[in-house]
Amino acid sequence: MKKIFSGVQPTGNVTLGNYIGAFKQFTDLQHDYDCVFCIVDQHAITIPQEPAELRRTIRSLAALYLAVGLDPEKVTLFVQSEVPAHAQAGWIMQCISYIGELERMTQFKDKSEGKEAVSAALLTYPPLMAADILLYHADLVPVGDDQKQHVELTRDLAERFNKRYGEVFTIPDISLPKNGARIKSLQDPFKKMSKSDPNKKGTITLLDSPKDIEKKIKSAVTDSEGVVAFDVANKPGVSNLLVIESSLTNQSIEELVKKYDGLGYGAFKAGVAESVIGHLAPIQERYNELIESDRLDDILDAGAEKANAIASATLKAMEDAMGLGRTRRK
Ligand code: TYM
Repeated sequence: MKKIFSGVQPTGNVTLGNYIGAFKQFTDLQHDYDCVFCIVDQHAITIPQEPAELRRTIRSLAALYLAVGLDPEKVTLFVQSEVPAHAQAGWIMQCISYIGELERMTQFKDKSEGKEAVSAALLTYPPLMAADILLYHADLVPVGDDQKQHVELTRDLAERFNKRYGEVFTIPDISLPKNGARIKSLQDPFKKMSKSDPNKKGTITLLDSPKDIEKKIKSAVTDSEGVVAFDVANKPGVSNLLVIESSLTNQSIEELVKKYDGLGYGAFKAGVAESVIGHLAPIQERYNELIESDRLDDILDAGAEKANAIASATLKAMEDAMGLGRTRRK
């Protein structure tokens, strides 16, 4: 079976953007691939995190991974800091990265812009992400559009390593969702929907109450035309809502445009809200059962054990290829 690796940061609440861009792909692909999924807590600390809150969000994210429908019998789910090979391989990948290529990453530029004190790790975050992926010999990396550049860098680093030290790594391909690779903020449809957006009205989280979801969608920025049509350049707000409903219901955009023909934005928004609430209800129910259960810890313990075995074997191959460490004299 071909292999998949992907990760999500335990920072803040998981958004509908994360769900449509990443989690939905995970659940669709789990039947056809050998999947490893990670709660990337070491990536989260590239910006300061409150310790108790980080602990809480790690657990919450683990429960969400399962609540969206991943089958722990099929997939391996683990916490990054519980598998030390990630940090070790991350260091090696840093050693083969160039500062120039890291400074060109748009996410680094966005996150560091205008800030006086930026952690060194914000710059060296993509080599750690490359290590995550390469340790598991992933063939495919399902992510949203904002991670595309990081996966492309991963491919470059893997090729560079293989060329210098011999064929250790599989070169991974990227998988983007057909629909919804970049879900936009409900308040600013030119910006990506993001966990860290200070304007909470722009972001739907997977654990929002039905009332909050309804309110947020009702106040979503649209335009003054009153016509439901798909046109990203001229009607970004309406188009974003169409993409959201389409990806959650598997109805095509054309079908939805027909459904809302002549109805106006009030009915359109009510329809989108109903679809979102209906889709999230069973996820929230499963989440509430899982979050307090010991089963969650058992799954993460087993996941860390499996991940450790795979990752440490790859790390050993990397170190051997580079001549790190010793072999005993015969
Ligand atoms: P993170 O935690 O920011 O996001 C997790 C996943 O959600 C996707 N995503 C979106 N997709 C569509 N629309 C949006 N508005 C939206 N916002 C987020 C992201 O593209 C991502 O797939 N660096 C990664 C975590 C990571 C990783 C990895 C991913 C670390 N190591 C190895 C894949 C493989 C990140 O910060 O994702």
